[in-house]
Amino acid sequence: MTSSILPAVDPYRAIDRQTDPRRFARLLEARGSQPHQARLRRGFLSLAGVGAGMRVLDVGCGTGVVTRDVAARVGLGGSVVGVDPSRALLTVARRRTEAEGTGARPTFRHGDGLALPFAPASFDVTLAVTVLLHVPSSDRVLGEMVRVTRPGGRVAVLDQDFGTFAIDVPDRALTRRIVDGHAERFYAEPWSGRTLGRRLRLAGLARVRSRVFVVVDAVYDDYVRSMLERRVDLATRWRLVTAAAGQRWLRSVEAGADRGDFFLSLNYYGAVGVRR
Ligand SMILES: C[S@@+](CC[C@H](N)C(=O)[O-])C[C@H]1O[C@@H](n2cnc3c(N)ncnc32)[C@H](O)[C@@H]1O
Repeated sequence: MTSSILPAVDPYRAIDRQTDPRRFARLLEARGSQPHQARLRRGFLSLAGVGAGMRVLDVGCGTGVVTRDVAARVGLGGSVVGVDPSRALLTVARRRTEAEGTGARPTFRHGDGLALPFAPASFDVTLAVTVLLHVPSSDRVLGEMVRVTRPGGRVAVLDQDFGTFAIDVPDRALTRRIVDGHAERFYAEPWSGRTLGRRLRLAGLARVRSRVFVVVDAVYDDYVRSMLERRVDLATRWRLVTAAAGQRWLRSVEAGADRGDFFLSLNYYGAVGVRR
């Protein structure tokens, strides 16, 4: 088995170069609309200390799922800016904000986390939610987040940790080849979640705190199905598994779901620190 057949390309590094960028907008909105994701965002924004009247930056805002929650929290006396390198996602973000806006009206700006288009010390809180694991050299993004945060303000990050992807399928060896094989080749840092506290301290932040959020999917819905199908598709194309083995794995997941026995969990880790 070799992974040199097709390069691993994480579409989130360059959404606008994908054949159908709107598909990723739909995926982000579908993920964001799940009740456990709304709970996760509430917990993370509390950890980050986002409150009324604050100026907040959301780095890698995508379609603005987190940005809209921040707007509701900071209220009319605060402000929130979402920044993202994808113009396609920003178009969706602006449209959805007009449709749903509550609290502060978010503004969206085109830009890269590696060189944020803001002056030093512009924000009270700077966030990045499920962004760093996608970005090579993400410590540079952290450095930029620190730069644009005022002294005494907070930098807060949240990422999945794909070393904790647990799915109840009897064939453990096949599951590892698909799940771990996909994570290793797909993400810039598949275990990003567990590294966040350490990396915030390395970035010079004080009083770093971390929290784990366990997300459990007990329902095999369309979002989960397409997420697992994408993993099998890539694992097959990268020749980590044969097409037949990939389909057998999916059938095994579906058989469990038909019996009411679907179980998948994934840990997200949040970390926050104070700018000196
Ligand atoms: C999985 S999405 C998360 C979007 C949003 N934070 C959310 O939770 O719904 C990852 C986002 O990171 C953005 N991204 C990728 N590379 C980036 C970079 N170098 N700087 C800032 N954002 C980046 C992508 O365009 C995408 O919007």
